[in-house]
Amino acid sequence: VDPRRHWDAVYEAAALDRVSWYERHPAVSLALVVGVAPDLRTPILDVGGGTSALAGALVSSGYSDVSVVDVSLAALRAARRASPAPTIEWIEADVTAWRPLRAYGVWHDRAVLHFLVNEGDRAAYVRTLSEALAPEGAAVIGTFAEDGPTHCSGLPVRRYSPAGLRDALAPGFVVVAERRERHRTPDGAEQPFTWVVARRATR
Ligand SMILES: C[S@@+](CC[C@H](N)C(=O)[O-])C[C@H]1O[C@@H](n2cnc3c(N)ncnc32)[C@H](O)[C@@H]1O
Repeated sequence: VDPRRHWDAVYEAAALDRVSWYERHPAVSLALVVGVAPDLRTPILDVGGGTSALAGALVSSGYSDVSVVDVSLAALRAARRASPAPTIEWIEADVTAWRPLRAYGVWHDRAVLHFLVNEGDRAAYVRTLSEALAPEGAAVIGTFAEDGPTHCSGLPVRRYSPAGLRDALAPGFVVVAERRERHRTPDGAEQPFTWVVARRATR
């Protein structure tokens, strides 16, 4: 499937607060990002941010440099309508092909990496992460856990334990913290997530 087409169709069809990944308040994301970015000027990038409330919540928390990259223009348009903060930069791009023009202090990804079921796409993701992240930066990545759903939005996913995410990010990155979360979907289903915080490996 062409991700742009798939995700534009998803966001054009569904009510934004009915999609399975919807969170009214992105509490885990916010806590993990704030934990690695005590300086409110840290440039924060939400990868595959879609219509998440995270970017707006970060601006409300005082962060002055927030960017969202997503393959779906429909998602970005809806997100911008919902969070019209002029300081948020919206970037339409596929993370596996995007060449970032600047460095970010935090790379946040909730439920995007797990859609990359091909090894080549995962390698491309890690390459983009390597280019985007500042030397002292941190990546905050959440995926379905190893006992999580096998599909999302009609697409197959790759599920991760903390060790699995460690392997996916090695050798360039090391996991420095991990966390498990039970996300509750708008329909009331429970979805276990694996979260990691990773930093660049020092050689
Ligand atoms: C399950 S949604 C999660 C959205 C958001 N992170 C959240 O937690 O609400 C997956 C998002 O990743 C985006 N996406 C999927 N594949 C992508 C890719 N290759 N590059 C950039 N964004 C992608 C989709 O458009 C969608 O917004």
